[in-house]
Amino acid sequence: MTHKLTLWPSGEVIEVDGERSLFEQLKKSGKKIKSSCGGCATCGDCVIIIKSGELNLNPQPFEETRLLGNVFHITKERLSCQTKVTGDVTIDISAHEKNSASLKKDVASGPKSTQVLVRKREEIEKSVRLNEEKTQEKPADTWYKHWEKGDQVDPNAPKRLGGNKRPKPFRFDDSKDEDDSK
Ligand code: FES
Repeated sequence: MTHKLTLWPSGEVIEVDGERSLFEQLKKSGKKIKSSCGGCATCGDCVIIIKSGELNLNPQPFEETRLLGNVFHITKERLSCQTKVTGDVTIDISAHEKNSASLKKDVASGPKSTQVLVRKREEIEKSVRLNEEKTQEKPADTWYKHWEKGDQVDPNAPKRLGGNKRPKPFRFDDSKDEDDSK
């Protein structure tokens, strides 16, 4: 007996039987489903999202629960390699299609992570010169070596908050200690 498997959001309908897993049947009908383990329920790559008809699915086998946990009622995710249908179901496999499309684009545009930015010698020399000039520039007069100026602070300068205070010398009160020991 065959059932209708609707693909969301395209609305494409595929005839599937209840004997084989959705993974096998989707692959047979030319749909791309990611997989590293080939349908042995060990990689967890073949996840599909159930949009409707969740009562028309076989119960989760132990291997699937081990990978996805017991949270189907929240995530609506199933491993396609462990899912068989007993009625009409709507599923979302757009994640698999999207990844394959972006993968193709990446391959076409060449590897991004290995791209090396090559700068011309003149550019490098120019930026080095600019950096040297910047470091040789004298900072603003009010702050240039302000610690050497000491108390010659401009009276019209705005009052600085905090700082500009010398720590008080530490005082040993020996006489008090002697009194305590007696
Ligand atoms: S294909 Fe690997 S878990 Fe389903």
